Amino acid sequence: MTFAEKTRRLGVCYYPEHWPREWWADDAARMIAMGITQVRVGEFAWSRIEPESGRFDWTWLDEAIDVLDRAGLAIVLCTPTATPPKWLVDAMPDMIAIDAVGKPRRFGSRRHYCFSHEGYRRESRRITRAVAERYGRHRAVVAWQTDNEYGCHDTVLSWSPAALAAFRRWLSERYVDIDALNAAWGNVFWSMEYRSFDEIDLPNLTVTEANPAHVLDFRRFSSWQVKEFNREQCLILRESSPGRDLTHNFMGFVTDFDHHDLAEDLDVAAWDSYPLGFLEQFWFGDDDKHRYARQGHPDVSAFHHDLYRGVGRGRWWVMEQQPGPVNWARYNPAPLPGMVRLWSLEAFAHGAEVVSYFRWRQAPFAQEQMHAGLLRPDRVDDVAALEVRETAAALSHFAVDSSTKAEVALIFDYQAEWMTAIQPQGAGFSALRVCFEWYSALRQLGLDIDILPPAAELSEYRMIVVPCLPVIPDTLVDKLRAVEATVIYGPRTGSKTGQFSIPRNLPPGELQSLLPIKVVRVESLREGLVEPGADFSVSRWFEHVESALPPELRLHDGRGVLFRQGSHRYLAGMVDPGTLHKIFRQMASEVGVGIRDMPEGVRTRRFGKLRFVFNHCAESRSIDALLPKDAALLVGMRELDAAGVAAWIDDGIRK
Ligand code: GAL
Repeated sequence: MTFAEKTRRLGVCYYPEHWPREWWADDAARMIAMGITQVRVGEFAWSRIEPESGRFDWTWLDEAIDVLDRAGLAIVLCTPTATPPKWLVDAMPDMIAIDAVGKPRRFGSRRHYCFSHEGYRRESRRITRAVAERYGRHRAVVAWQTDNEYGCHDTVLSWSPAALAAFRRWLSERYVDIDALNAAWGNVFWSMEYRSFDEIDLPNLTVTEANPAHVLDFRRFSSWQVKEFNREQCLILRESSPGRDLTHNFMGFVTDFDHHDLAEDLDVAAWDSYPLGFLEQFWFGDDDKHRYARQGHPDVSAFHHDLYRGVGRGRWWVMEQQPGPVNWARYNPAPLPGMVRLWSLEAFAHGAEVVSYFRWRQAPFAQEQMHAGLLRPDRVDDVAALEVRETAAALSHFAVDSSTKAEVALIFDYQAEWMTAIQPQGAGFSALRVCFEWYSALRQLGLDIDILPPAAELSEYRMIVVPCLPVIPDTLVDKLRAVEATVIYGPRTGSKTGQFSIPRNLPPGELQSLLPIKVVRVESLREGLVEPGADFSVSRWFEHVESALPPELRLHDGRGVLFRQGSHRYLAGMVDPGTLHKIFRQMASEVGVGIRDMPEGVRTRRFGKLRFVFNHCAESRSIDALLPKDAALLVGMRELDAAGVAAWIDDGIRK
């Protein structure tokens, strides 16, 4: 193995339990021949590991691990807790999660458990210990994945009796005194006051909306339960499998629990990247859905790469990379030829240590039989296999100098997304979406971005953007006062207290000490309703601001949209993308951060001394304007093919 292969690796998700034993050795040899050096195994295999309560069958997994090891593959083993077997569910039927309308979520797929169920927690620890003790010190096992995609299929919130009991306990520890809770939640409103913690229900099935403070605390509690569940597994794995990396595969656009918080117990964050499925399933318009149907939105993978680099405190992997059509979106097109290579190289350029494909071979049976793999069900290479080989050949470029530190920090907080989901005030308003839109605007200017939680160290950044952060922790205000960066805050930032109320001094609350403005009224605007300014417009959201500061941007009727004091700016509405660009461009020039205007669908990323360019278009694009005159391309061409990747040595000097 070369140094680059050791630090940047390709992996694959493999299910030996799905295939005849006679195929395993051939599969392993073909993985190695393809340039794959790591294999993830076991996340759904509980019924084969323990076919009946207490009766373990290790023979097949012993053999599979040995076969993979002998071929030279490193193994990422998983705890199988995302798929509790039938005998277990039958033995404790109340371990099943209950949905918001009170219906149990049945056995017959996966993730059918409630995080608060003590019995299931015990089972999760028991099976984790069993697998960890069996294989924890095996030389081939280099890492562990806990469970699989916490939160996927809407599984964080459970409205079960177990969740209710645990929520009451959590509340009584947090508030101690019921009057403190009544005051914090504002329960005098609508006579919602409680006399004891035992009177509190879960916030579902109410006649009209439940108290947002109640819902927010339930979400905080539920997020904490996921963290605790994960932590219990981590403690066991650390003890029985010392020195191995612990990771979890987070799912893209799943925000129901705080990933920053959970990752404190991990060594590496991993995420599952399905660019075509995400484009189809999320808020993108029809234009984008057509234009990028076979490539994915140019910023979605990058957004997650930059998010999970922060979640993993620098260390992160792509655990599952889409290799072809998936089965779960409304429509499931095939990627453009070259996209699997582009997605893989893009992840490495953003600093991934591993890109691992889901899955080795398409399964001809059960739920995911329409989901492509690297191999077809008949064992012949599928389209992506060639692109994996090409990616492996390009790994040598990712050599020693691997710094990916960005100049721009974007602050994202999971709680912000919960708050805008609980009280959107305008249909579809989402803190995550605002963060994504600002991120996308910055990426179109060729900027590299670190997405960070509010608690992060910010002193080294030259530009800081806070797109939508309703609760501003006090420590953040102090940090922002001290930075030398230029900073901008977006709508709804500082608009709430930690208990989901409007701050006494009105929004943006504590931020008023950095920027003397007061938001006195907010309005949401239905699609098509715009508030015009001279050469810009505001849509979807607008805030009425009182301030002695003269606005830097104002609507035709004189109302201010952009306010500035020193290096701090506040944007009081959702402006069109061109205006967002102008604002960011101005901020960048004030602090000497270089802008590179990206041709449509083209994006760039610096990796150490290398500058990468990715063409997410279905047509070729000239990248001449981005290249210094004397730059020699290590990869790609000046006329970059559809799905093409280019890279050159960038000494940081603009010529
Ligand atoms: C992921 C999951 C995998 C598989 C894949 C299909 O969400 O972790 O097990 O279901 O999606 O795209």
